[in-house]
This record gives sequence, C-alpha cells and structure tokens, in this order.
Amino acid sequence: MELKITKTVKGEKVDFKRPSIEFFEAIGGTKGMRDFMYSFYDIIYESDIHNFFPQDREEFDKVKEKNTKFFIQVCGGPKVYEDESGGMDLDEYMIHVHDDFTINEKARVEWLGCMRSALEKVDIDDELKMDFWDYVEKFSKLTVNDFKDLQAFNPYH
Ligand code: HEM
Repeated sequence: MELKITKTVKGEKVDFKRPSIEFFEAIGGTKGMRDFMYSFYDIIYESDIHNFFPQDREEFDKVKEKNTKFFIQVCGGPKVYEDESGGMDLDEYMIHVHDDFTINEKARVEWLGCMRSALEKVDIDDELKMDFWDYVEKFSKLTVNDFKDLQAFNPYH
C-alpha cells in the first residue's frame, strides 16, 4: 500500500471527503482514536515540526486532547468537538485555527509523514487507511498559508 503525497497548488480548489464511519469503528471508536492520535503526537514530538507545538507538557496535552476530539467528530463519531468551533463550520474553523501559524509545504509534508507513520502502525484494512489518508492528504493543503518556497521545494516521497 502506498500513501502518496501530492503537491499543494496555491489557489486550487481542494475537494476532500471526510473519512468514513467504518474507519472510526475499525480503529476502535473513541478509545482507539485517542490511542492513534497520541501515537501521532509522540511522532510529531520527535519530528522537525515539534517547534510548532507547545513545549510545555500540559499545553501540549491540551492540543492532543483537542486534536483527538476533532478527529473523533470528523470521522463521524460523537460530536465531541462541537463546542470548540463556536458555531463556525467545522472545516472552516479548522483552517482558521492554523492561520495563527506559518505553515509551508515543507511543514505539511513533515506533518503528513508523522501521520503516515502513525497510520502504518495501526492494524486495520488498507482500504480504510487509504480512506483516512485521502482526507488528511487533501485537507492538509488547506492549512498551508505560506507559499514562498513552493516552487523550489520538492519533498514528495
Ligand atoms: C488534515 C490536516 C490537519 C488537521 C485535520 C489538523 C487538525 C488540528 C486540530 C484539531 C488542532 C487543535 C485545534 C484546537 O485547538 O482545538 C490543530 C492544531 C494545530 N495544528 Fe493542525 N491539523 C492539520 C494539519 C496541520 C499541519 C500540516 C500542520 C503543520 C505544522 C499543523 C500544525 C498545527 C499546530 C501548530 C496546531 C496548534 C498547536 C497549538 O495550539 O499550540 N496542522 N490541528
């Protein structure tokens, strides 16, 4: 199975589909999703983008927890993230959260690399992994807000 990364093109419309409920069920519902997201953040912590995230342990734990809740909801599980977005559309709110950070294509590819490693450790069908990957690979394009290095940079692997 190959979890590919395609290039972000500035201004291009991104058509993404939220992961199916089958992914959420296969991963083990709320508890499984929490384990998966904590494993993802352990990898983030060791990555080139760890500086984007709080260095304070308690603050970092809060990010992990919010992230877990978001992914539970976006994968069709209980609506446990709803209160965070203050009535804003969930997808729009998630793009907005990232506006506070300077995210370029290199950071996106690093983030996706961490997600790929976490996903590879999970014992579920490849088809369901692909479904989840398709969502993060595409949606992550919408979190990129710094395009300065886009032409010169070719990190796709
Ligand atoms: C599919 C793509 C992505 C999704 C769904 C996603 C989701 C999230 C969620 C749910 C949060 C927590 C928001 C909250 O405070 O309630 C968050 C925070 C954050 N994400 Fe992402 N993210 C994505 C891509 C990225 C990428 C590519 C980066 C690149 C560095 C990134 C960096 C961050 C940072 C720095 C924070 C905030 C940490 C803090 O609050 O200090 N994210 N993200």
